[in-house]
Amino acid sequence: MSSAEQSYFVTTPIFYVNDVPHIGHAYTEVAADLLARWHRLRGDDTWLLTGTDEHGQKILRSATANGMDPKAWADHLVETAWKPLLKEIDISNDDFIRTTEARHEKHVHTFLNILKEKGHIYTGEFEGYYCVGCEEYKIERELIAEGDHFLCNIHSKPVEMLQERNYFFKMSAFTEDLLKFYEENPKFIQPESARNEVISFVKSGLSDLSISRSSFDWGIKIPWDESHIVYVWFEALLNYITAVGFGEDEDNFNRRWPGVHLVGKDILRFHAVIWPAMLMAAGLATPKKIFAHGWLLVGGEKMSKSKLTGISPNQITDVFGSDAFRYYFMRAIHFGQDGSFSWEDLSNRYNAELANGFGNLASRVLGMIGKYFDGKVPAPNQPNEADTAIQNIVAEALEDADQAILDYALDENLNALWRIVEELNGYLTEQAPWHLAKTEEGMLRVQDILYTAVESLRVLAIALYPIMPKATQKLWDALGVEDQLGTLDSQRLADAKQWGALPEGTSLNTLAALFPRIEEETE
Ligand code: MSP
Repeated sequence: MSSAEQSYFVTTPIFYVNDVPHIGHAYTEVAADLLARWHRLRGDDTWLLTGTDEHGQKILRSATANGMDPKAWADHLVETAWKPLLKEIDISNDDFIRTTEARHEKHVHTFLNILKEKGHIYTGEFEGYYCVGCEEYKIERELIAEGDHFLCNIHSKPVEMLQERNYFFKMSAFTEDLLKFYEENPKFIQPESARNEVISFVKSGLSDLSISRSSFDWGIKIPWDESHIVYVWFEALLNYITAVGFGEDEDNFNRRWPGVHLVGKDILRFHAVIWPAMLMAAGLATPKKIFAHGWLLVGGEKMSKSKLTGISPNQITDVFGSDAFRYYFMRAIHFGQDGSFSWEDLSNRYNAELANGFGNLASRVLGMIGKYFDGKVPAPNQPNEADTAIQNIVAEALEDADQAILDYALDENLNALWRIVEELNGYLTEQAPWHLAKTEEGMLRVQDILYTAVESLRVLAIALYPIMPKATQKLWDALGVEDQLGTLDSQRLADAKQWGALPEGTSLNTLAALFPRIEEETE
């Protein structure tokens, strides 16, 4: 890595392998992918990690119910469900970690041994209500009484009373250190509401954490006591470091770690409390940031498979395509807040913003260059105020879009770039090159107008590539610039900012429909 490059390591939660992928999982993936692709665009030394969480009681039970050995069950699900999901929505992950891999298991041991040597682990008794869905002991205020038993407030399913003699991590010893750390790093937990929730939780006092189980054996063994396995959350969190060389490849570890974690708000505490406490105990760097996004709601409730509201990503991509899927969820929901999914909203935005907004803009501009300049990019002539106004809008939009990514305001990144689409559409209507094209003198203006428009399309192709890799690739192909400017994925933000980079005389190719019209189903 050259000194100018900044390391940017971003992760998604690792998904419970037995879950059926739904749009909530895909949402986190797309957000992380947008961040990673934008950081690559900036020239940062980027690494995107995702994967699957494969141990624990929940997975053991689902494997048993399917008459399979848990590892074979996980292998099957990774290949038939999770990896295909990533492909379907164009996730550009650099790695995929499975918690059953040797690189993980081995260095979960390394980590535990460090904690033990440093005196942070002891043996104790524990009794409490356990939710298998969350794989977590629940405190009283997280339970809902129903008749003579209690339900988990997330899964609405009965919790189980467990009593175990376990190994404990002395997490309570880190209460003050954590509070000081949050205080000194106000952007460590975002958004603000998530930060406040975590601080008040920690202020109310932390208990020690039971980190082993002995009632079942689908997990990683405690290195000094084979009759216990490691608590699934404790080892799952470690994926973020075992995947980048912890204990194995110090150079790589130092190059990537610390990273940024995107999580759903339901798993915020594991990441913002337990995980930094674990790292502090081991003497390792704490993460750069925990960003908790909201939930996708369907019919006003958190969408989930167990409540039968699960929508699978391919129900959407089969109709609208993966670009529209990615665009819709990132644009329509303010990142960090809950958002309601509706087919109607998706369909309206597809038509208005993608097909009629961006798609139509590209086809109009390329169509006019075809008609008036025989498909060759015209030379700019004498740009007037209206043309330079577009140049300024493009430059500002790029700055704003970049800042939005640095602020984790993903929807604002798209809002900023969409100003280019909207302004350019308005500019074309106002300038009406089709009227000017009627005279020789008017054609001199048309040169400037269409150069301004097609050069803006070059910028849009580069800047929208992180969110819509397929449509922008079609546009890049139609611009015919690969020979002169290189492939689309090799373009950088600095290239986008270089107004005038599109060489005059470039021969355009046919533009494939960026967002085809969706046929309404008729009964
Ligand atoms: N295996 C744990 C994570 C371990 S990370 C060390 C886990 N897995 S999960 O598959 O249940 O959830 C993964 C992510 O999907 C979580 O961030 C969760 O918030 C997110 N979502 C699940 N349902 C969701 C919605 N309805 N909406 C948005 N995100 C949701 O938890």
